[in-house]
Amino acid sequence: MNEKIGILGAIPEEVGILKDYMDEIEEVNLGGRAFYTGKLFGKDSVLVFSRWGKVAAASTTAALILHFGVTEIVFCGVAGGIHPDVKRGDIVVGNSLIQHDLDPRPIMPRWEIPLTGIQKIPVKPEAINRCIVTVEHLLNAQHYSQFMQQNELEQFGITTPKLHCGLIASGDQFIYKREQNEALVKDIPDVLCVEMEGAAVAQVCMDYGITFSIFRTISDRADEDAHIDFPEFIRHISGKYTLELLKTWFNLHHS
Ligand code: ADE
Repeated sequence: MNEKIGILGAIPEEVGILKDYMDEIEEVNLGGRAFYTGKLFGKDSVLVFSRWGKVAAASTTAALILHFGVTEIVFCGVAGGIHPDVKRGDIVVGNSLIQHDLDPRPIMPRWEIPLTGIQKIPVKPEAINRCIVTVEHLLNAQHYSQFMQQNELEQFGITTPKLHCGLIASGDQFIYKREQNEALVKDIPDVLCVEMEGAAVAQVCMDYGITFSIFRTISDRADEDAHIDFPEFIRHISGKYTLELLKTWFNLHHS
């Protein structure tokens, strides 16, 4: 079967940057979304903005699989850091994903996806490994200093960005209040970061047996400053990260 990669960007700006690198590009409008088909870094690909929230992202993912026939999905975006070690500018590779606002109790255990018996959706080991190698390359000091400018890093208080691999929590809430943040840490202590789409995309990929990979760059600490930090970070940092991540990730596909 011919490989076709679905690329979901959680931010329109990221999609805009990647679009400029696509060859033989065609725009297809479906379900109110603009899908870009063509070749990205030499591979058949379909690029789309996920939209925000779990339902929107699940709907976009289903279209990628059922309409466009993608054989694998990679998702890039930003997230709020939850674990104390996860700082702005760090990158989280998801090894599993949970919907932190899914609560079918008392019929089923908290966070369990009905009819699956699963609370944390695992990412395939080979997909995790490829993401880890990709992030290690991105954060290699020599490479990093080539595409990130020192003054921008200083502006965002980024010194030595780190790779983390672990659990990502998704829910239909932007987390910016201390109570929300503390509740997440207390309820699910192994959560590294929080966002609004990943676990929904992972669930659709699991349903259809599609390999799924996820990178999340930390834009804020999911605290009282999150809504201020988030748009600034997107404007200056996340597009560059996404472009460099995907260049490397696609390269590893060929090897
Ligand atoms: N994405 C980036 N930051 C976030 C936050 N604080 N809450 C939810 N999603 C996010």
